[in-house]
Amino acid sequence: MPAIHKHPEFIVRSAEPFNGGPPLPLLREHVVTPSELFFVRNHGNVPDVDVASYRLRVEGVVDRELQLSLAELRNEFPSVTLPATLQCAGIRRTELMAVEPIPGELPWEAEAISHGVWRGVPLHAVLAAAGVDSTAKHVAFSGLDVVQRRGETFGFGGSIPLAKALSPELMLAYELNGAPLPPTHGFPLRVLAPGYVGARSVKWLATITLQAEPSANYFQQRAYKLFPPDVHANTVDWAEGEMLGELDVNAVICQPTADATLPRGTIDVQGYAIAGGPQGIERVEVSSDGGTTWTEARLSAPLQPWSWRFWSAQLALSAGCHQLVVRACAMDGATQPPVAGPIWNFKGYMNNAWHRITIVVS
Ligand code: MTE
Repeated sequence: MPAIHKHPEFIVRSAEPFNGGPPLPLLREHVVTPSELFFVRNHGNVPDVDVASYRLRVEGVVDRELQLSLAELRNEFPSVTLPATLQCAGIRRTELMAVEPIPGELPWEAEAISHGVWRGVPLHAVLAAAGVDSTAKHVAFSGLDVVQRRGETFGFGGSIPLAKALSPELMLAYELNGAPLPPTHGFPLRVLAPGYVGARSVKWLATITLQAEPSANYFQQRAYKLFPPDVHANTVDWAEGEMLGELDVNAVICQPTADATLPRGTIDVQGYAIAGGPQGIERVEVSSDGGTTWTEARLSAPLQPWSWRFWSAQLALSAGCHQLVVRACAMDGATQPPVAGPIWNFKGYMNNAWHRITIVVS
């Protein structure tokens, strides 16, 4: 298994498969997350891919099946560079777990997100080379990793609708932050699907299949599906549920951290916000009294449509215990739910309730 190079303060949520992310104050230090701090979500092993023999296969309802080496993808197709945020659907699951337990899932806090500068081939260019048949409605991806779950062994995969696959932001990325993809982030090639849950950005990409239906893979048909709060593991009908795609507006306090004790005076509150799609963040507000009164936060300069936005606010706080809360509003008017209870779901996805932390001012 290739070596994984991460920052000494990287929080490892599970060692095998390797999963983790940076402490929130460190995450908030860099608008472009350095690779050694970039969060990792792996369901299986990190494949050791021999780039000389590596071939991406493009198949399904296409005019021509393709087998492309990395050199062909780099040299014979256009390249694009795009700053974009990647966020896992399981982000902030611990807050859902506090509502009702979610057994068997990783206890992510708000660190399952990072922002990188990606370089690769526009997916539409590869699809055009293959020739998309009119019956194609979905583009399915599969990875080279192997997932073991409850005695079964299978691959990782997922799909996106053809319309999303043809949009300009969709990329087959071979670089992150100016260097070849690190092994744990998908070397030599991964999908980058900005604005969609991270699960659709399939790493160690082996095949692209054009098809009429969404992917039949476990991670499309069972995992990464959203069910209403009354559905539980023992009552679920897997044919139901919403296959996750587009992200929602979300905002998080990175600094101070939960349960911090701070000296009296003006405190600097900092965090990140995402709009979900390319529409951008309209407003971020912070409260120090549990959401009764609000102060508008200062937003950092906008980056690119698919990038997160950093925010900060100064709050003058008296001695005592304070509940800090943040909420964001996107340019399309989308807002966040105040509490997590009504959006609880048994797999623990898509928590975008107002982010609340308690601090003590001494
Ligand atoms: N691709 C493969 N092949 N295997 C995986 O386990 N995890 C997905 C996605 N692509 C995964 C994958 C999930 S759930 C997320 S959130 C992102 O990769 C995380 O990407 P990162 O590890 O580069 O941050």
